[in-house]
Amino acid sequence: MKNSSLYQELLVQLVSGLKTLPDKPEETPETTLCALWHAAAGAPKSAVLAAVTDLPSLDKTAEKTLRDLIKQRLNGAPLAHITHRQRFVDMEMLAGPEALVPRKETELLARTAIDLASQIVAQQGKATMIDVCTGSGNVALAVAQHVRGVQVFAADISEDAVALARRNMQHLRLDGRVQFAAGDLLAPFDNPEFHARVDLLSGNPPYITSAKVKEMPNEISAHEPTLAFDGGAFGVAIIMRLVKEAPRFLRPGGWFVSEIGLGQGPVLGKLLNKNPAFKEVRMIEDASGAVRVVMARC
Ligand SMILES: C[S@@+](CC[C@H](N)C(=O)[O-])C[C@H]1O[C@@H](n2cnc3c(N)ncnc32)[C@H](O)[C@@H]1O
Repeated sequence: MKNSSLYQELLVQLVSGLKTLPDKPEETPETTLCALWHAAAGAPKSAVLAAVTDLPSLDKTAEKTLRDLIKQRLNGAPLAHITHRQRFVDMEMLAGPEALVPRKETELLARTAIDLASQIVAQQGKATMIDVCTGSGNVALAVAQHVRGVQVFAADISEDAVALARRNMQHLRLDGRVQFAAGDLLAPFDNPEFHARVDLLSGNPPYITSAKVKEMPNEISAHEPTLAFDGGAFGVAIIMRLVKEAPRFLRPGGWFVSEIGLGQGPVLGKLLNKNPAFKEVRMIEDASGAVRVVMARC
């Protein structure tokens, strides 16, 4: 199909008109066309999966649908909102305007949480994890998918996000592996069942400054929930609350792990090191050497 005149014509359109975001590196004119092609054929796939799956032939109706989908994308609709799919770690997740479209960069947090949960289960046979600011459930579900023996709880302040996270759990056939709740940070778990009992507390809180949120590209500001980005005047308001509240929930030796924004490493490292509840603080760098995840042990 990639040799067909239709594919070549539409690729030229995308090469000249498509604007992509740096935090969605998997989206190129080619992968976008493949994803929209599969969606038009009635078998939606993420850009990552679509790019490695043979393209089906399209009838006239499907070709018209594909041209409409390309128009939507060129007008700025996020690809994942058109296909309702996004790849995260190795999961084909459902995506939509209810929650942030999971970003590739957050796989660093998910893989760190998977490693920690695996180590804890290896040591003690089971583990309890809470994922806050769970959004579409990506981090919680990645841990549930990869680590047997971990009991995962997750929450988000947005009821819409929690509804999408629950749909994702069913879609990924992980029914019952994560218990989702709606509420402010750790409030849904503020009871003796969790106090000083949690082995791993993860989160990807909003960390963009309020001023920068106002300047975000239209593809984000017009389509994704502001709640997912706005971290207050300095970008660290929510993560600072988490750092303060986490120790009450973590058992001695339990880990707090969070994604942070570019450049926030030094200030958050200082904050964690200064907190007497944390005994060990680690910074995890991405492939470019930027600190994007912080870890601290109670
Ligand atoms: C950066 S998004 C992360 C979503 C998801 N974990 C991901 O990685 O794609 C931040 C999430 O935090 C949620 N949020 C914002 N303020 C919150 C609060 N006070 N308590 C709980 N969740 C909150 C937002 O609704 C949003 O889903």
